[in-house]
Amino acid sequence: MDGNGRWARARGLPRTAGHREGAKAVRSVVEAAPDLGITTLTLYAFSADNWQRPAAEVRTLMELFERFLHSERDKCIDNGVLLNIIGRRDRFEPRLLRAIRRAEAATAGGRNLHLRIAVDYSARQALIDAAGLHQSPEPLDVDSYTELLNRAVNSRPAAPDVDLLIRTSGEQRLSDFLLWECAYAELSFTDCLWPDFDGAELERAVAEFHRRERRFGRVVEARELAS
Ligand code: IPE
Ligand code: MG
Repeated sequence: MDGNGRWARARGLPRTAGHREGAKAVRSVVEAAPDLGITTLTLYAFSADNWQRPAAEVRTLMELFERFLHSERDKCIDNGVLLNIIGRRDRFEPRLLRAIRRAEAATAGGRNLHLRIAVDYSARQALIDAAGLHQSPEPLDVDSYTELLNRAVNSRPAAPDVDLLIRTSGEQRLSDFLLWECAYAELSFTDCLWPDFDGAELERAVAEFHRRERRFGRVVEARELAS
């Protein structure tokens, strides 16, 4: 979810106004996702490196986040959305942590969409934490490590690999997001700033995704013979 600051600056508004508007885009995208065949949606709201932003901006983002948890909880329940915050949890204020736990518990029965919001998230930190969880004498393989990684970031339930990664605001980088899970992700870049992103933009990206040919390292002929 990138481009909130630039959206605000273009209108002569403070960056925080962009973040507020960005929260509205979340609603539009979450509402559109299930009808587009999306069962897991992960939004990158706040990276571990974002703590380095000015304290006032960090405070506003955390307040917005807490407010979002309260205001969206009932809507999530009504729409079968399972809300799940992924990332570290040891640097949040106790009140925010309580709001997270409450929202997750209240929406745990959601079956239409697993909505993961990444807050204080770093993919590299997650990879390190997952390695620290490894206890079994069995050697790791891709599936068992993926399980540890999901545990390390509090993903409940565990999420599948990423099929489509959309980066907004004209940037073309991964910024420490889901590095392991994006091994075979299709990448989609749009100049659209996050507050302008909505269900229709998501639909466009998904339509383009369906036109891509995914080979997963194989050749097309081999896949056709196998099917
Ligand atoms: C939102 O956009 C992403 C967050 C970390 C909340 P930005 O705040 O990065 O906006 P730009 O990149 O300055 O436009
Ligand atoms: Mg940015």
